[in-house]
Amino acid sequence: MTHTEAPGLLLRNVRPYGEGDPVDVLIRDGLIAAIGADAGAAAPTDTEVHDLGGSVLLPGFVDLHTHLREPGREDTETIASGSAAAALGGYTAVFAMANTQPPQDNQTVTDSVWRIGQEVGLCAVHPVGAVTVGLKGEQLTEMGQMAAGAAGVRVFSDDGMCVYDPLIMRRALEYSAGLGVLIAQHAEEPRLTKGAVAHEGPTAARLGLTGWPRSAEESIVARDAILARDAGARVHICHASTTGTVELLKWAKDQGISISAEVTPHHLLLDDSKLETYDGVYRVNPPLREAKDARALRAALVSGVIDCVATDHAPHAAQEKCCEFAAARPGMLGLETALPIVAALLVETGDMTWRDLARVMSVRPAEIAGLTDQGRPIEVGEPANLAVVDPDSSWTVIGDELASLSANTPYEGMTFSARVVGTIYRGRVTTRNGEVIA
Ligand code: DOR
Ligand code: ZN
Repeated sequence: MTHTEAPGLLLRNVRPYGEGDPVDVLIRDGLIAAIGADAGAAAPTDTEVHDLGGSVLLPGFVDLHTHLREPGREDTETIASGSAAAALGGYTAVFAMANTQPPQDNQTVTDSVWRIGQEVGLCAVHPVGAVTVGLKGEQLTEMGQMAAGAAGVRVFSDDGMCVYDPLIMRRALEYSAGLGVLIAQHAEEPRLTKGAVAHEGPTAARLGLTGWPRSAEESIVARDAILARDAGARVHICHASTTGTVELLKWAKDQGISISAEVTPHHLLLDDSKLETYDGVYRVNPPLREAKDARALRAALVSGVIDCVATDHAPHAAQEKCCEFAAARPGMLGLETALPIVAALLVETGDMTWRDLARVMSVRPAEIAGLTDQGRPIEVGEPANLAVVDPDSSWTVIGDELASLSANTPYEGMTFSARVVGTIYRGRVTTRNGEVIA
């Protein structure tokens, strides 16, 4: 089903960026038509009216890092179920990673993912193209064809795998600069992570788990910053997880290198003490680090050294997670819980304003990916891609109740204050009070 004709919409009693007194926001033809106490005066009689009781209004969130599992593992997530999870989380655009089966390493697959995303119509689904054929790290894909196709692919990544060969990475960066696209690197030197399942440190040593050193990530971040500099290209670092990565990003940005980075909600909130129970739900790549890493990541997001939050939403079937820790698949759900976590860690503590949160969850990710219709200011004439947040809800996470087809959330039973209570995509309400509006 496609939704081209959006009805007029009047959002009553909302506070853009959580600032000032509540106002009304009128939406027509997919655009913000009026903002203010009398915005409703211009509304036609068939306008749909929602009183939002003083909730915070933000630009719809943009996720640079989502795994939707279609094609290939539709038992764990589909483009439809993942779009529903995204919309419920306040997202109006997601970037679907290339490690599907078959992988998104050619135009046929990227265009098909794009088309299905359009048909579902709950948020923009931008397929990420693979950098190398089969994500094997050996031969570059036809990035130009994927970029020129219907999907207009703008972000390329072998995420799940690192583009480990420095010569291949150099060539990928050179081509990307020519095409005006972005390479997003999963920074993991595979020679340093053979058999690794947990952060290399005292916890893994005590639990008898093979360790994944910080250097496996940091050595690639340093290398790729230098390769990007010399190629005159941009590079984006996926899921930054260590104190050293933060220092390297700061160094590279101070040199004027075009580098950007994301951090996940789980690396901001959790640390490797969670592994004590050997519960496979906590296995993720890169692994949960130490408390001091999480602290450094939060500070880097506040200061702008890390640009944005990305979920790395990674659905897995129960039998792939509820097993021996070392046998569990890496990855955890993220789309429906990102906003409550970032708000709890950074807004409720006073470290960030709602406007700052909009920067790291919407404005910067849209800029990094080159989206012109997302992450826009809440102003008259701008596209109506919006998220409505109730800062004083009390919401308890229950994996089985999430819209995702999988339930591998590490936040089971946790209660959060802030919750997304509505999402508007291209002028249409896609979710309301935790329900998807078809
Ligand atoms: O934990 C992860 N899961 N990290 C990745 O890089 C890939 C992802 C997945 O595809 O499950
Ligand atoms: Zn990754």
